[in-house]
Amino acid sequence: MSNTSNPAFPLESSSDSSRRIAILGSTGSIGVSTLKIVEAYPERFSVVSLAAGKNVELAHQQCRRWRPKLVSMATEDAAAQLRARLRPESIAVEVLSGSEGSVRVATHPDANFVVSAIVGVAGLEATYEAVRAGKAVGLANKECLVAAGELITGEARRQGKPLLPIDSEHNAVHQCMRGGKLHEVTSVWLTASGGPFLNTPKSQFSGITVQQALNHPTWKMGKRITIDSATLMNKGFEVIEACRLFDLPPDRIKVIVHPQSTIHSMVEFQDGSILAQLSVTDMRLPILYALTYPERLDSELKFDLSALKKLEFASPDFERFPCLQLAYEAAASGGAKTVALNAADEVAVAAFLDRVIGFEDIPRTIKTVLDETAGTHPESIKEVLRLDAEARAIAAEVVGTGNSGMRRTRGVHSVISGSRNN
Ligand SMILES: NC(=O)c1ccc[n+]([C@@H]2O[C@H](COP(=O)([O-])OP(=O)(O)OC[C@H]3O[C@@H](n4cnc5c(N)ncnc54)[C@H](OP(=O)(O)O)[C@@H]3O)[C@@H](O)[C@H]2O)c1
Repeated sequence: MSNTSNPAFPLESSSDSSRRIAILGSTGSIGVSTLKIVEAYPERFSVVSLAAGKNVELAHQQCRRWRPKLVSMATEDAAAQLRARLRPESIAVEVLSGSEGSVRVATHPDANFVVSAIVGVAGLEATYEAVRAGKAVGLANKECLVAAGELITGEARRQGKPLLPIDSEHNAVHQCMRGGKLHEVTSVWLTASGGPFLNTPKSQFSGITVQQALNHPTWKMGKRITIDSATLMNKGFEVIEACRLFDLPPDRIKVIVHPQSTIHSMVEFQDGSILAQLSVTDMRLPILYALTYPERLDSELKFDLSALKKLEFASPDFERFPCLQLAYEAAASGGAKTVALNAADEVAVAAFLDRVIGFEDIPRTIKTVLDETAGTHPESIKEVLRLDAEARAIAAEVVGTGNSGMRRTRGVHSVISGSRNN
């Protein structure tokens, strides 16, 4: 596909196929899978720099194994602990901290490919700066595109560098789109496993526990995305992500429940053809695809077609999963509404994981925050971060973890007080 308005498809592909990689979120699920891929193809890939959060133990192991030039930890405390561990071993790695450190990791002059896999908006600045520095970016962190998609894709277009989706659905769409032209696409079909509550009656939603919500049927992922999958907010984020990556309006991005998660997504063209991508449910495959695009390499990640028994599809239930509807509405408004959607969800999910609110309070919290957010359009990352902080403050107040420590007397108050049963 060649389409200059589409940031997922670069204007030019580099003749240099070696990838000197910076990983944002190296200690997370995607970060660890990326390092497995680097391990499997040492002639193609090398590690330049790593950014992690607080997992000093794993960051230390990664420094010993990969000898990166630069590492950043989320806090100065974690960075100091890492330095103390490295000193006696005479491992010469520069260790920084905070968002400035993540930006340095993402823009390291030796890196030519950045894997963006810090969870949440914490990865936004570094991802944007990577794009601005002209790096090719493999994007797992969907929250970046949800909160600041217009700015990030605009910058990628200006740079003429690819923004390659690692999220399995968008990676599948990317692959299918290579079978046609953007103007020939009528719909993108994002498949959804349906999560652990696909067949749970609405009457039982109020009793859903954290443990039940963390039990995803097909994917092993970080906690936030697992809860987002249970509420279908993850699919809502993916709708917004697809709009921004592939330059399509929300009504052309459809969600279809497909419990087997075998088809990762589909693209429908104007002649009626639908192209689908099937593969094992293993994130190493989309990571490998992004790292080697436009080439493909041999891999052990084979899918056994003969073991495939059935492919089921159903329409999503917007009533039981209101987060999906909220995401479509935010996608239609864009700008501050999508910033608030992500921020409110992050706060609500954290409160649910801390057993402060119930499962059904997650969409209620988000709706309250969206209702209080004006439909403005931020023009800089700084403004996005300001709107994000504002939405977080409202959400924290709604769930009762804000500065005042008081729950609001409207919105979700009455529901929250009666729903901490998990
Ligand atoms: N996992 C999947 O299969 C999958 C699929 C599609 C998309 N994604 C997306 O990919 C992103 C990562 O997901 P994940 O499942 O890998 O999450 P995860 O396992 O929770 O990992 C998150 C990573 O971000 C790091 N981190 C958190 N806060 C940070 C901060 N302030 N500064 C620097 N690093 C920070 C964590 O560090 P510590 O652990 O050291 O604290 C960890 O390395 C998310 O946006 C998710 O939506 C994931």
